[in-house]
Amino acid sequence: MPDVSIVVPTFREAPNVRELHARVADVMGSQRWEIIFVDDDSPDGTADLARALSAEDPRVRCVQRIGRRGLSTAVVEGALSSSADTIAVMDADLQHDEKILPAMLNELRARKLDVVVGSRYVGGGSTGDWDESRKTISRIAGRLARGLVPEGLHDPMSGFFVVKSATFREAARNLSGYGYKILLDLFVSAGRPLQFAEVPYTFKPRAHGESKLDTLVAWEYLMLLVDKRIGHIISPRLLFFGLVGGSGVVFHYAILSLLFLGLGVPFASAQLVGTVCTMTSNFFLNNLFTYRDQRLRGTKLLRGLLSFYAVCGLGALANIGVAAYAFSKDVEWALSALAGIVVGTLWNYLATARFTWGAKK
Ligand code: GDD
Ligand code: MN
Repeated sequence: MPDVSIVVPTFREAPNVRELHARVADVMGSQRWEIIFVDDDSPDGTADLARALSAEDPRVRCVQRIGRRGLSTAVVEGALSSSADTIAVMDADLQHDEKILPAMLNELRARKLDVVVGSRYVGGGSTGDWDESRKTISRIAGRLARGLVPEGLHDPMSGFFVVKSATFREAARNLSGYGYKILLDLFVSAGRPLQFAEVPYTFKPRAHGESKLDTLVAWEYLMLLVDKRIGHIISPRLLFFGLVGGSGVVFHYAILSLLFLGLGVPFASAQLVGTVCTMTSNFFLNNLFTYRDQRLRGTKLLRGLLSFYAVCGLGALANIGVAAYAFSKDVEWALSALAGIVVGTLWNYLATARFTWGAKK
């Protein structure tokens, strides 16, 4: 059994797999280690390459996931597939300096720590030749996480760290799994202060392939923060769904005043147009924000829209039914209406999660 499993999430990293393995083998010397590539079915055949590599070196394993995406969840699955005492997590693209791996492992063991982080923000480390905009984004992202992670941790955004397997498993059930920030997730989800240290390194430029950092990653970071700050009160998706619904109310009134007050369209017709327009805008906003990670496109978009109309139509009936019932039981009118809105919204949320977006969470 290896002492350390190096978990490497990959998506389209074919040109880097072999080089990473060679570099790791070089620095790990006589330690007992393995590499676990966790690949999300990359179209460039990364998983096949990893398997070919394990035919040459049995210390290489590959977990291939189909129909899924996500750096954090890939790391979680790789880590849980390991029986080693220690987990190391690093990127495949050679941006993390493998040369500090032995020092990180020594530190972890010698000081009996939970986590040792490869850090760009302690003395001797740096972000390398990042441009100003990436530096700014990184700074803002860090600021948003303030209060969630321990004061003394300088690089909570790092994707390069070693952790005791037991600590990882302790936190595993509480992890959000949203997006890229598995280290931050780990610190927040551990349920106790983790003992940690940081080892400096310089973030290297990417040699091959391209970064997968995009708006989805930013969105996932936001979901992670919302989940970790108020997730015990309301799920981030329901929150977004509610916010979109709120925007819909404003939109609806705008259309209604334009048609009914402005253009003299009969009230019932204006109300109908307003409702359809609002359902449509709610659908697209939810598709863009609430369900960005499972966004519908093409023909699925149309089918989704139709199912959204159907579900929300029922939701409106439920809303009216509940409100009317409450009102008939002498509940105040405003409260009756609120009860209807809450039940209708919950129905819409749960049913569209199932039928429109087929969400897991
Ligand atoms: N399995 C899997 N699934 N792997 C993924 C996915 C995915 O959906 N998306 C990205 N990866 C892999 C990449 O193949 C790479 O090995 C690693 O995760 C990091 O992805 P990059 O796209 O290279 O990220 P980056 O360089 O912009 O971000 C890195 O630096 C950040 C610090 O600035 C990552 O290490 C981040 O975790 C880190 O916070
Ligand atoms: Mn990278």
